[in-house]
Amino acid sequence: MNTKPYDVLTFGDLCVDLIITGADVTPQFGQVEKLVENYTLEMGGSCSIFACQAARLGLRTAILGRVGADSFGQLMLDRMNEAGVDTRFVTVDPALKTGLGIALCPPGDRAILTYLGTVNVLQPQDVTDELLASARHLHHGSYYLHTGLRPGIPQIFRRAKALGLSISLDTNWDPAERWDGVMDELLPMTDVFFPNDQEALHISGAKDLDAAARAFLARGVRVTALKAGAKGARVYAGGVRLERPVEPVSGGDSIGAGDSFDAGFLAGWLRGLPLERCLEIGMACGRSVAGKIGGVAGQLRWDEVA
Ligand SMILES: Nc1ncnc2c1ncn2[C@@H]1O[C@H](COP(=O)(O)OP(=O)(O)OP(=O)(O)O)[C@@H](O)[C@H]1O
Ligand SMILES: [Mg+2]
Repeated sequence: MNTKPYDVLTFGDLCVDLIITGADVTPQFGQVEKLVENYTLEMGGSCSIFACQAARLGLRTAILGRVGADSFGQLMLDRMNEAGVDTRFVTVDPALKTGLGIALCPPGDRAILTYLGTVNVLQPQDVTDELLASARHLHHGSYYLHTGLRPGIPQIFRRAKALGLSISLDTNWDPAERWDGVMDELLPMTDVFFPNDQEALHISGAKDLDAAARAFLARGVRVTALKAGAKGARVYAGGVRLERPVEPVSGGDSIGAGDSFDAGFLAGWLRGLPLERCLEIGMACGRSVAGKIGGVAGQLRWDEVA
């Protein structure tokens, strides 16, 4: 019998995405005005997209973070509340602007301009032991973007482990392309690791994905779920190697597919389902989000995947 109030706690980036879509979305300097086909204003941020997908799949989910006292901050809170995320640990900070990502998305690609704002303001001491003790599992979804919080993340993971939580990590892309800080510091405390194929190669320094996964397992990771976009995903654990293709979707953007995959996989894993089933649920969630514009529009509910 589980008496903790939350299945999953996550902390980190809360921001809004302004997504500009069309055949030609490349800006032209020299004061040129171009017309674009469409835009979507949507909740963004790896950890908030993850939290919404986790809550939609029936996990009792809380998020810690900050938003500005502005309409973008309100949009964040509204979207997370609609999905069923417990937002009581989200502080509205009048001194800050809510983070913003401007995504320019021609078919099949994207370029993002990011204003960090509230994204990078959490401090390690904000993640208190009391909060950690309230959850079964801790997920962090954008390690490399949190340059302020980063030095404190090993300490947060250590405290979480001591309090008996399982931990998952999706580093996402390293904008500085240094790829440090993960192998030795975080992976020994990480139960489930969620890199995509490129991130796995960079972080491990390995030549191929099987070797990368072996390096992660050797560091103590229990399960590596490796995402490869429209090519599908793989899972590696002691003695297990599963690879599954996915039927590609088009018409959306890839925003949030990886974070929703993470939440889907964990929704199975935390229920004790076999790894193959966890992989299928993660892929179904990622694919559904990849087929829609923005990170939450395609998110599935538990009754739709189960
Ligand atoms: N175009 C697509 N068609 C079908 N499925 C997709 C597509 N894109 C992503 N998926 C599904 O979602 C999963 C996760 O997506 P992806 O591999 O893009 O993760 P990621 O690189 O972490 O993404 P993110 O950009 O959100 O960080 C994939 O393994 C796949 O199952
Ligand atoms: Mg990712």
